[in-house]
Amino acid sequence: MLDITDLNVWFGQGRDRVDAVKAASLAVEQGESFGLVGESGSGKSTILRAITGLAPDWSGRITVDGTDLGRRRDRAFYKSVQMVFQDPYASLHPRHSVDQVLSETLHLHGLGEIDRRVAKLLDDVGLGPRFRFRYPHQLSGGQRQRVAIARALAGEPRLLLLDEPTSALDVSVQAEILNLLTDLRAERGLTYLMVSHDLPVVGHMCERLAVMKDGEIVEVMEVAALRRMEARHPYAQSLLQASVAG
Ligand SMILES: Nc1ncnc2c1ncn2[C@@H]1O[C@H](COP(=O)(O)OP(=O)(O)OP(=O)(O)O)[C@@H](O)[C@H]1O
Ligand SMILES: [Mg+2]
Repeated sequence: MLDITDLNVWFGQGRDRVDAVKAASLAVEQGESFGLVGESGSGKSTILRAITGLAPDWSGRITVDGTDLGRRRDRAFYKSVQMVFQDPYASLHPRHSVDQVLSETLHLHGLGEIDRRVAKLLDDVGLGPRFRFRYPHQLSGGQRQRVAIARALAGEPRLLLLDEPTSALDVSVQAEILNLLTDLRAERGLTYLMVSHDLPVVGHMCERLAVMKDGEIVEVMEVAALRRMEARHPYAQSLLQASVAG
């Protein structure tokens, strides 16, 4: 579903240049959930941004479902690949109602029967019709993230890029959203690439994961190996140990 080969991503130029991702390669199978972990600033979000076209300076090869991505992302791309951000407060426009957000997104995807689809999307993410005309400030954090997920699902994507989708939420709400994501993947055969700093979350949600450090992928491992604490790279090992200790 997703193939990344020798990806380099940088910001700025000359002396200000930051090499955020260096020679990263990974492949995510159709229907798989793949985790991306590593310390702050290691380049996790930058990989997701490069895929969605939010990081303009990159080299290497990114293939989604067999199609090589060039410099520009077309409408078909955003129909099949969607991103869910960490902070649903920031990712929803404060003056747009849930109905507006979802209707406009469906419209942008060129879909009809908007009314029926909005109701269905709300239902799919566990929000009833009574949430339809609310504004973001009238929703809890978890409900907002459900709206953000509904918006991501509007075009019936195949690949979701999830950037710490629950880390801004209350612990009690995190599990609800993770369970929703698990159910949606099973029901729709979705593929996930999911960033998290929380190894137990990755252990619960993913089949495999990549460990990043200083812009590089230092290890790709099965979650089963994560459970057995079998990392080869010393950094990956220390991450596992810190997670158990913490
Ligand atoms: N727009 C930008 N301009 C300049 N540097 C950037 C930009 N975005 C990210 N960086 C730098 O790229 C590196 C990787 O950042 P990135 O956001 O991918 O890290 P991350 O692994 O997602 O970290 P975190 O866990 O804190 O979210 C960091 O050094 C960061 O400062
Ligand atoms: Mg990040």
